[in-house]
Amino acid sequence: MSTIDFKSFETREALAEGLAQAVVDAIDASLLKHGKAAIALSGGRTPALFFDKLSARRLPWADVIVTLVDERWVPETSERSNAALLRQHLLKGAASAAEFLPLWRPLPTPEDGLDAVEAAVADLPLPFSAVVLGMGDDGHTASFFPGGDRLAAATDPAGARLVDSMRAPAAGEPRITLTLPVLLAADRLFLHMEGQGKKGVFDAALAGRDVGEMPVRSVLHSGRAVDVVWCP
Ligand code: 6PG
Repeated sequence: MSTIDFKSFETREALAEGLAQAVVDAIDASLLKHGKAAIALSGGRTPALFFDKLSARRLPWADVIVTLVDERWVPETSERSNAALLRQHLLKGAASAAEFLPLWRPLPTPEDGLDAVEAAVADLPLPFSAVVLGMGDDGHTASFFPGGDRLAAATDPAGARLVDSMRAPAAGEPRITLTLPVLLAADRLFLHMEGQGKKGVFDAALAGRDVGEMPVRSVLHSGRAVDVVWCP
């Protein structure tokens, strides 16, 4: 039985609404069981509309902790900051009551911030209720980039760390990323992508096994259930 559940939506709007509902359901399930819920979301260009929809949902946001699956090592004043995207599109209105755990720290490098961020992530009510991943045209997800200096460690299913640094030719600035085990442990794991180009990349990722070539394979071939949501 395949562990990949592929769901196609007709429009970006329908996808954003459908994904927001699924994440709300995952949060509600955790709140019911534990009274707290933590979610980890991706940055990049794709998720802004989904964030807008999620932020409009009625939830006890004060009991929800939001973090990122990865961050570029830039301050929130940078237009490259994933935290800035979250603040602009998700942490507004009622959802501004949510607690936000940034992965960036005002230190020169991600390596400098690693221990502090590791401790902060370890303090979250893990596992995450929901993790929403994106995927790049090169088959990266989170900051698992082809050629990444910490790719093998970050995608080691038995690795002990919760976060790692990453430097890679296509990554732009240095990055910090949650590691594969913490992502795979989530109650619900989503892969959100849009457009025919990404569908082609996804099909190629599913068809092969080399994680170094397309690191998203570390998730797709992990054996755990992944909800893939897509629209043309
Ligand atoms: C990041 C992301 C990254 C993203 C993909 C897809 O910080 O860049 O978290 O993993 O999800 O690169 O990005 P787009 O949505 O911009 O195509």
